[in-house]
Amino acid sequence: MRLDQYPLAPESGERSSTGGATAVAHPNIALVKYWGKRDDELILPVADSLSMTLDVFSTTTTVRLDSEAPVDRVTLNGAPAAEEPYRRVAAFLDLVRGRAGRIERAVVDTRNTVPTGAGLASSASGFAALAVAAADAYDLPLDATGLSRLARRGSGSASRSIFGGFAVWHAGQGTGVEGDLSSYAEPVAVGDLDAALVIAIVDAGPKAVSSRVAMRRTVDTSPLYRPWVESSRADLTEMRAALLRGDLAAVGEIAERNALGMHATMLGARPAVRYMSPATLVVLDAVHQLRREGVAAYATMDAGPNVKVLCDGADAPRVARALRSGASRTYIARRGPGAGLRAGDGLPAGDGL
Ligand code: PMV
Repeated sequence: MRLDQYPLAPESGERSSTGGATAVAHPNIALVKYWGKRDDELILPVADSLSMTLDVFSTTTTVRLDSEAPVDRVTLNGAPAAEEPYRRVAAFLDLVRGRAGRIERAVVDTRNTVPTGAGLASSASGFAALAVAAADAYDLPLDATGLSRLARRGSGSASRSIFGGFAVWHAGQGTGVEGDLSSYAEPVAVGDLDAALVIAIVDAGPKAVSSRVAMRRTVDTSPLYRPWVESSRADLTEMRAALLRGDLAAVGEIAERNALGMHATMLGARPAVRYMSPATLVVLDAVHQLRREGVAAYATMDAGPNVKVLCDGADAPRVARALRSGASRTYIARRGPGAGLRAGDGLPAGDGL
């Protein structure tokens, strides 16, 4: 047994010479899903979730303070951010400023290498990178737990991207300060496991319903939601045991049933939310076919039509080829690092990157 090979989280307080800070973070894919909040304001989830951080699709975010600026400025992939992402980033910076006792506005530049809005969790890498960069720029000294709690306020799944490898996000207990303090992610112990996730892109366009809206509607209206939460709690316990054993087939089986169950809760919402497209089902059929051929491959899907297939690293090229029946593009991802500061002009600051 060992803690995962990437338990690293950023060193807070390391300053760049420009007076700002640049951080890099990677997306994570949940194997036991976060779906539903008990507190929308503090982003406190109903249940624990567990994910693998990827080594692809990084987000790099620079935060510089500008004491003259009347408002924050935010660019996303070189263009001014649209209203909704701007509002979320500015609200997040208000939170950081409030905690740091600072008032300066910020210039934020974010570059994503993931197709934004395609259900590939760019919000997780985005808010993890923003949390690390903003905490540093505003001189807010936070340890990894503190950064995870902070990232959570931007986007729940971002709490897990602070850590590399496998991470569990504890739902925590209660509401208000008690809930806020007890809800954060941490690394998970894993056995000998060469896990890969093959990402099958079936549609890289923005999604019709945001995960935020879909989650709220599911919690409020789906009769399938509570039973799924119960089974998801059991899935999490079994998942941790399967990871410790390094039992890829068990990890995959639990992940697949947990994701399909989550999508069932959405189909049960009123009105229903359906992220799966015909191409999604073609990819799911290809995964079943692979299993019939003896390849341990298991599917998971998030708030979008794309499919991520868990398999052994050695099988990943074959799995990727098989998924091309329904996917326009495939990527092979492995365990990636936790979020971290980048020093000066673009060189990684340490092991965390
Ligand atoms: O953090 P959000 O609001 O983007 O929620 C994402 C939730 C899922 O990706 C669907 C599941 C998960 O646990 O990441």
